Amino acid sequence: MRRGRFITVEGGEGVGKTTSLAFIAEYIRARGHRVVCTREPGGTPLGEALRGLLLDPRYQGMDPECELLLMFAARAQHLSERIRPALARGEWVLCDRFTDATYAYQGYGRGLPLAQIEALERMVQQGLQPDLTLVLDMPPAEGLERAGKRSAPDRFEQERLAFFERVRTGYLARAREAPERCCVIDAARPPAQVEAAIQAALAPLLEEA
Ligand code: TMP
Repeated sequence: MRRGRFITVEGGEGVGKTTSLAFIAEYIRARGHRVVCTREPGGTPLGEALRGLLLDPRYQGMDPECELLLMFAARAQHLSERIRPALARGEWVLCDRFTDATYAYQGYGRGLPLAQIEALERMVQQGLQPDLTLVLDMPPAEGLERAGKRSAPDRFEQERLAFFERVRTGYLARAREAPERCCVIDAARPPAQVEAAIQAALAPLLEEA
């Protein structure tokens, strides 16, 4: 059986990731494929427990290297318990964030050396990369406004605008470096236009499947 496809969706706060993920899952299912929807950090019981630690505002003083290692710890479990088995069964995996988020947040956002992230990526992924990464892009100030004021912002949401500007720079740099798998979608446009752009990005994968 041919392995399934691995699609990741990335972007800063308030870019409409949740709505787009629901649209993508439905669009792929309607074309006859089984879709596993999952997220990072998380996606497994252990990964979700690590997510709880990572997002908890009580750990405001978390060391950036601790943060980086916990992200990859959750990812290692996610890959072995959920992502690789699903792909091997021929299912499509649709993941809300993956390693591009680590480059954007821990690399560009926190300022950790990209070479450290690359080393962990090699160790944990052993060459596995998404077949397609959709980067939903909009100016962070607009995204934060759209996200609105949550009653209890998590540890990342408490960051300042400058942090999210660096995250955006990181995502756009990643997309430039891997144009064969990354597609930047201007998410500031009306929803129908965003959906049309997503459909166009999915077309090559769906045609060859
Ligand atoms: P979200 O998935 O609900 O947006 O929240 C997850 C948060 O974790 C988000 O602020 C981005 C952050 N994150 C990282 O900093 N690095 C990572 O590798 C991943 C997957 C997420």
